[in-house]
Amino acid sequence: MRTQVVIVGSGPSGLLLGQLLANAGIDNIILDRVDRDYILGRIRAGVLEVGAVDLLDRAGCGERMHEEGLVHDGFELSFLGRRQRIDLKGLTGTSVMVYGQTELTRDLMDHRAATGGRTIYNAANVTPHDFDGASPHVTYEQDGDTHRIDCDYIAGCDGFHGVCRASVEDKGLRTYEKVYPFGWLGLLADVPPVHHELVYANHARGFALCSQRSHTRSRYYVQVPLTDKVEAWSDDAFWDEIRRRLPQDLAEAMVTGPSIEKSIAPLRSFVAEPLRFGRLFLVGDAGHIVPPTGAKGLNLAASDVHYLFEGLREYYADRKAAGLDAYSARALSRIWKAERFSWSMTMLLHRFPDDGDFGSRVQEAELDYLSSSRAAQTAMAENYVGLPY
Ligand code: FAD
Ligand code: PHB
Repeated sequence: MRTQVVIVGSGPSGLLLGQLLANAGIDNIILDRVDRDYILGRIRAGVLEVGAVDLLDRAGCGERMHEEGLVHDGFELSFLGRRQRIDLKGLTGTSVMVYGQTELTRDLMDHRAATGGRTIYNAANVTPHDFDGASPHVTYEQDGDTHRIDCDYIAGCDGFHGVCRASVEDKGLRTYEKVYPFGWLGLLADVPPVHHELVYANHARGFALCSQRSHTRSRYYVQVPLTDKVEAWSDDAFWDEIRRRLPQDLAEAMVTGPSIEKSIAPLRSFVAEPLRFGRLFLVGDAGHIVPPTGAKGLNLAASDVHYLFEGLREYYADRKAAGLDAYSARALSRIWKAERFSWSMTMLLHRFPDDGDFGSRVQEAELDYLSSSRAAQTAMAENYVGLPY
């Protein structure tokens, strides 16, 4: 087989890149090691920046998002029994879109299938070859046979545990990492959200987040020790715990119900540099991870896709490589700012087991300062809605 771009990974970054390329007449094949249903079963991000919304529109896949997604003009911080709204729209002129990663992925998959895009699911042992040489290609195994796809470029959109970053580890890759001493236990339930906007809670028992997917579906999180097992958390125990971490009025208003999904995610900050090795590019979680506190993971995947797509489009239209040459530096400049923001939101809102009372007091002072300073709120809002591409 031959194509122009092989995309490894059928998550949001691979699908978005594939659709933008296809719309520009650039042939591509997506490979994933699992199948469509498995990918759609993963419950992940929920907040889209305006840049990600625009990109989904440009891909021609934004229709359902505009019908069903919820435009949010602000969110709330809760601490010491108080609530402070961050007026995103008022402070920045911009809102965010609440629309689940699962739905966005489904829209992209459906559109790809309807427009004849090629995706190969259940591709085992996917391996990129000769990306720093003259004949880049990717091999994979299926039904006992080994297949080969020759290409011009390889886009590594295969997530944090993928093969693309692993295949450049001995080629001068540098990594930066911070692992946090806790995880998030998430619960999805068909109950109305406790509040019409998201609530991020700093509490002596640990962080909590009230998010949502629709007017009838809620997504809630609580900070838990890394040693906790999801099986040990009954739904009742979760509901009791999150109510303890919220101001009384919200705790009393919370509607509970059986969980549809429950899982624990560890929190990590990670960046790989550079994001280009010859004809292979790292995109999205393959190149970087943020803790979810700033809602930036999926949005960074989208901005990477934007920079890489522009570079590829320019190359195929005009045979100019300037955009591709600039990809890594452009993407990393935005990535590091989102890393900083996600880290600072995480530090502000969680309990750190080793920081003791001093750490809590510093957090309280910062939250108090935020409540009284429009400048501080603007800085938070500007980063939350997303820095320009
Ligand atoms: P992925 O979505 O990881 O997609 C990568 C794809 O590559 C997958 O389909 C995988 O099957 C495939 N793949 C992997 N290895 C191979 C291989 N060897 N060969 C072929 N295919 C391969 N962000 C938020 O903003 N908010 C959240 O609440 C949030 N929660 C998260 C919870 C978890 C458990 C995780 C892991 C991430 C979470 N994120 C969250 C981050 C967000 O979901 C990611 O940033 C986003 O999924 C990145 O998209 P991606 O396409 O780059 O990678
Ligand atoms: C979510 O809805 O899953 C979500 C929202 C905001 C975050 C993290 C996760 O910061």
